[in-house]
Amino acid sequence: MKKILLTVVLAVTMVRSFADEGMWLPLLLGQQVYNDMVKRGVKLTKEQLYSMNKASIKDAIIIFGGFCTGEIVSNEGLIFTNHHCGYDAVATASSVTNNYLKNGFWAKSKQEEIPSPGLYAEFLTKIEDVTAEVLDSAKGLSGLERVAKVTAVTTAINKRFSDEATSTIARVSALFKGNQYLVFVYKRYSDIRLAGAPPESIGKYGGDTDNWEWPRHTGDFSVFRVYMSKDAKPAAYSPENVPLKPKHFLPVSIKGIKDGDYAMIYGYPGSTNRYETSYGIKQKIDIDNPTLVKLREMRLKYMFDQMKNDPAIKLQLAADYASIANYWKFFDGESKQLIKYNVYDQKKATEAKFQSWANGKPEFENIFKDWGAAYDQWRPFSKHRVYINEGIFGSPLLAFAASLQQVENAIVKKGSTADIKKALEAAKDHRAELLKNENKASDQQIVAAVLQMYYKDIDKAQHPIGFYDGIKAGYGDLNDEATYKKYAAGIFANTMILDNAKWDAFSNNPDATVLQADPAYAVASAFLKNWQGKFLQSYQQFNLKNNEFGCLYLKGIMQMDSVKAKKMYPDATFTMRVSFGNVKSYAPRDAVKYDYVTTMKGVMEKYKPGDYEFDLPEKLIELAKKKDFGQYIDKQRNDLVIGFITTNDITGGNSGSPVIDANGNLIGLAFDGNYEALSHKISFDPVYNRTICVDVRYVLWCIDKLGGATNLIKELKLVKQ
Ligand code: ARG
Repeated sequence: MKKILLTVVLAVTMVRSFADEGMWLPLLLGQQVYNDMVKRGVKLTKEQLYSMNKASIKDAIIIFGGFCTGEIVSNEGLIFTNHHCGYDAVATASSVTNNYLKNGFWAKSKQEEIPSPGLYAEFLTKIEDVTAEVLDSAKGLSGLERVAKVTAVTTAINKRFSDEATSTIARVSALFKGNQYLVFVYKRYSDIRLAGAPPESIGKYGGDTDNWEWPRHTGDFSVFRVYMSKDAKPAAYSPENVPLKPKHFLPVSIKGIKDGDYAMIYGYPGSTNRYETSYGIKQKIDIDNPTLVKLREMRLKYMFDQMKNDPAIKLQLAADYASIANYWKFFDGESKQLIKYNVYDQKKATEAKFQSWANGKPEFENIFKDWGAAYDQWRPFSKHRVYINEGIFGSPLLAFAASLQQVENAIVKKGSTADIKKALEAAKDHRAELLKNENKASDQQIVAAVLQMYYKDIDKAQHPIGFYDGIKAGYGDLNDEATYKKYAAGIFANTMILDNAKWDAFSNNPDATVLQADPAYAVASAFLKNWQGKFLQSYQQFNLKNNEFGCLYLKGIMQMDSVKAKKMYPDATFTMRVSFGNVKSYAPRDAVKYDYVTTMKGVMEKYKPGDYEFDLPEKLIELAKKKDFGQYIDKQRNDLVIGFITTNDITGGNSGSPVIDANGNLIGLAFDGNYEALSHKISFDPVYNRTICVDVRYVLWCIDKLGGATNLIKELKLVKQ
């Protein structure tokens, strides 16, 4: 009896301590987890939360463009997502004279909406467990053979569940590090049109200074619409298409929120690694993160120099700049928080506990010894890898040049003319993309800087043989910045990649020696071949082992603690998840308390006329001064609420996700995480973790009062009482 009681007590404490952590698969919401949601305040049935056959909340949630989340908010396929998710589409639709990024855009009728090629919306239609099929086929195999088999089987499953004719796309996802396999089936709609976006000064208010931080005053939203064919099927863009009739759309509540209110978030978190090892954390903190941060800082500096005074360059580089900057700040903060919270020591303790359980169990007892050895072998080359991905290929020119290896291979391997032609065709499309986005001035400085940084930072024994001797002989002292500047100038002046006449001549008469002599290709391929020849295999080996040990470790954890196993959620894999929690204030440090909402008062406090990050549109200032907030006003505060925070567990990919109240109504859009919990991919902090959301009342106020797009407001189902 005593024992049972103990387990029960344990289980209850577990529930408490796991309170808001968890990215649950809505399909597998166990009764226990659902009960927790009810305790927290949800008023919906399990069927309303998720059902395969009946319309449920999940039918209003979309994958937006393959990188974000969006939600359907009207019976005519209207989508809300974040401004930073629609950013590239808005920038692409803009020109210096019609600058929607700068001035905002509001379609006053459906005719005015702007097609956004490349964007799509995917609706989840089915999930099936295919674990047995995958694991049975791989039985008895190990290493690369096993990987190849699993890849082949999952590819076959994807094919079986997909159907191009109906735009049905299936993707198997490996959960619990490969202990479970589910196939997710989606319907993809690819006629997506821009319906509205606030000026960037609202949508990205606070810029990189405020990014990943609370208190926040950003109106991070944009509005799109999904279209279908007249016979209600997914279809490519056509003026004949009609707005989508969704199975379900979210009503929008303008009742307002209180501290402690229930809040849940549906969406597509991209990746987490909550079972990362102490070895992985050490490598991240010591090598990978600081290297990435340093290289990105350099690239951002040169891009910004060109963008700040030229609106055309600003438009051209804006989307790339924003995404580089976003994870520049993230990885810097991640390291800081991992250190601050001593996550390394926490992991060491968890691993020690696992080890004492594993002792005497041959399947598990050597995991950590072997895993550590794998890290030891790989560690000396880890910085090199970051340098290739974030440095050498951080130059758009060199990244493109490296892709020409396919062309070189086709020529050198004496492929058929058809092969060469195919490689050249692909390169041609790629090159067109490059030229559209290429800013020579910044790129040339990046190339010069990265070559010098690599020279200083990377162990000489790892350098491409003879490469730096060549620079020294032709351009001067290798410790001198001017040497690299001259060298980079030569590349940009002479490469055929940036010269149409030379490129055409090469395309018409593809000759390997001409390609090899091209200065951009020569640099890119020197680094690429050095990497491929000396390190790639070790990296693949390391990766393979890391995945194998990860899979085994999780299997062990689930055996070790069967109570906990019942309430485990899988790491994020860009598959649909739901997180539940509360609106909640927090204390970031001693003597400081953060309120759970921000208001227009705070927007005005941060305002800096003419500033790159804190400027504001005239009209917003005017309306704010008059307190013209209409039905969106927060009566208690006599102000407009801008943002709020919740305890939900989300990560990148969740951007644009709906924040939903206890009754299934939209109350905000999740758009960020807070600085104090930037270690969240690896370790969820139950005290500090917050999700930063834009209040839907600010969204509607911008659309209505600022943009005058009452047409959009009329489509919504507003919940006022
Ligand atoms: N940190 C946000 C996210 O990853 C993106 C915010 C974009 N804003 C910016 N200033 N870069 O979802």
